[in-house]
Amino acid sequence: MDKKIVFITGISRGIGLEIAKCFQKDGYFVVGSSRSNFDLNEALSSDQCLHIPLDVTNRDQVSACLDNLKDKDKVPNVLINNAGITKDQLFLRMKNEDWDDVINSNLTSVFNISKLFIKSMVKNRSGRIINISSVAGLMGNPGQVNYSASKAGLGGFTRALAKEVAARNITVNCIAPGFIETDMTKHFQDDELENIINQIPAFKMGNPENIADLALFLASDKANYITGQTISVDGGLYMS
Ligand SMILES: NC(=O)c1ccc[n+]([C@@H]2O[C@H](COP(=O)([O-])OP(=O)(O)OC[C@H]3O[C@@H](n4cnc5c(N)ncnc54)[C@H](OP(=O)(O)O)[C@@H]3O)[C@@H](O)[C@H]2O)c1
Repeated sequence: MDKKIVFITGISRGIGLEIAKCFQKDGYFVVGSSRSNFDLNEALSSDQCLHIPLDVTNRDQVSACLDNLKDKDKVPNVLINNAGITKDQLFLRMKNEDWDDVINSNLTSVFNISKLFIKSMVKNRSGRIINISSVAGLMGNPGQVNYSASKAGLGGFTRALAKEVAARNITVNCIAPGFIETDMTKHFQDDELENIINQIPAFKMGNPENIADLALFLASDKANYITGQTISVDGGLYMS
């Protein structure tokens, strides 16, 4: 890769923040977004980064961000679509807004943000798009019909776009984490956690570094022949 600029959505904590640290250590200029006013410079102890507060579901905010990046000469050649939410409920009780919010935040947002940067990747004949999916999109989780559907949708998005842009030296892949220790999973009660861990062949939760390391590899030149894939990082929870 000639230039090293990465754009990471959902950078304010958890997996997104760990990916940011990992790419920064590798010499990337890190651009990141989240809805909150987050001090990325402080979090990375660096001035080689930029935080853009935006909601990935808001198309006006998303399109305004491109001009900002063009002005600063920081249009990315690596995009990591990481922002995501859960709104769990059994399907019988799932409200329309629980469905809409999760599909918009986890799937439509990936359309919004990828649209923003794909043109420059195609023009430069170089790029990487890495979508953070989930084991739930492969297995289906009870209580997560909305979340599982959004993450399964990312797999189809990834394969179709990968075929469209492969000849332009752009790869598009998904990482499917299993249970990773972040805010998203800290609400589990002890008995729920024990039940989950008993189902994982490695008998432990993963950590955000496990995801960040794979993202960095997929962004590298060494991964230039890997595209359209969904790669699980889950301690063996899902084996197809
Ligand atoms: N943790 C796990 O076990 C696990 C497993 C499988 C997959 N994943 C996936 O991995 C990704 C990261 O998860 P995590 O565990 O790190 O979650 P997390 O700790 O809850 O962090 C989520 C991040 O997404 C941002 N975000 C959420 N909605 C947004 C929106 N509409 N616009 C902009 N930013 C938004 C949040 O920032 P603000 O709130 O400040 O906007 C935050 O930075 C998600 O896609 C998740 O589905 C996680």
